[in-house]
Amino acid sequence: MTDIRRPDDMARINSPALAQAFIEEQISAIRAQVGDKKVLLALSGGVDSSVVAALLIKAIGQNLVCVHVNHGLLRKGEPEQVIRVFRDEMKANLIYVDATDRFLDKLAGVSDPETKRKIIGGEFIEVFAEEARKLDGIEFLAQGTIWPDILESEAGIKAHHNAGGLPEDLNFELVEPVRILFKDEVRVVGKELGLPDNMVYRQPFPGPGLGVRCPGAITRDRLEAVRESDAILREEFEKNGLAGKVWQYFTVVPDFKSTGVKDGKRTFDWPCIIRAINTTDVMEVTVEHLPDELIDHLVSRIIAEVPGINRVLYDFTPKPPATVEYE
Ligand code: XMP
Repeated sequence: MTDIRRPDDMARINSPALAQAFIEEQISAIRAQVGDKKVLLALSGGVDSSVVAALLIKAIGQNLVCVHVNHGLLRKGEPEQVIRVFRDEMKANLIYVDATDRFLDKLAGVSDPETKRKIIGGEFIEVFAEEARKLDGIEFLAQGTIWPDILESEAGIKAHHNAGGLPEDLNFELVEPVRILFKDEVRVVGKELGLPDNMVYRQPFPGPGLGVRCPGAITRDRLEAVRESDAILREEFEKNGLAGKVWQYFTVVPDFKSTGVKDGKRTFDWPCIIRAINTTDVMEVTVEHLPDELIDHLVSRIIAEVPGINRVLYDFTPKPPATVEYE
């Protein structure tokens, strides 16, 4: 199943009927591949792994074992949503691992961006592998590989490391039910499978999560300021009809302080930077200009509601020269 390719003449899945046909086809293919064996899936809550989970739940029910690792760098409400949608509503066999302390302890004092990424990636594999070893009789690993991953890895643009990284004793056969789909098709299929819109149309979110938006050495209080300000930004974008329109938007809380004044007293706190961008390929990015009233409202909410912030800044820099993320 792992060398299946997208047929050249395959119609773009852009309607509920085509999505339904794809779902039926995949359910048969999954059942034929795995029979009554168990399948393991790292469920991040991102679009691709969520759609894979929903497909496998339909195909094999309780024989799918989902593992949701909370590395402490997820956005506000994300782990709760994964549990609600998959365990409570879809009745999935879901193992939730809160590894926040483990990740944050390892990251304490580490300021180099690449080292931070390596620690987060490496620790993720370790936590997942530990959970996998606790389970008996699992022969398959499901992955949310999509067609652009295959094309990019064949073109040598990006190492496709979905599969990579697991220790050698964990030698699973891969199940990749959305492997021949483009991202827009994955969303149509996800919608047809009944996943909520804020999961299906979710903005891109980097694997290292809020860790790259808390530049330098991560501290719990500054990370919390990133998480809370991000939640306010997302809420306001949803209220103002920008959530489905702007490609990616988030906040960053850099590791420096400036003076301010609150209730007649001097403060010495962090700034919060808002970034909102549009793009098609993420190679070149333009900045979304927000209405003045919305900026004013965001400034007052963030200052009033997020401890440790005394200034709000807006990033007007396109890519190039700036990257989307701060590290
Ligand atoms: P940059 O900052 O390189 O970001 O302009 C381009 C896009 O990639 C996302 N990004 C990542 N995604 N792991 C990911 O899965 C990462 O380490 C990572 N770094 C950046 C970023 O959010 C943007 O959409």
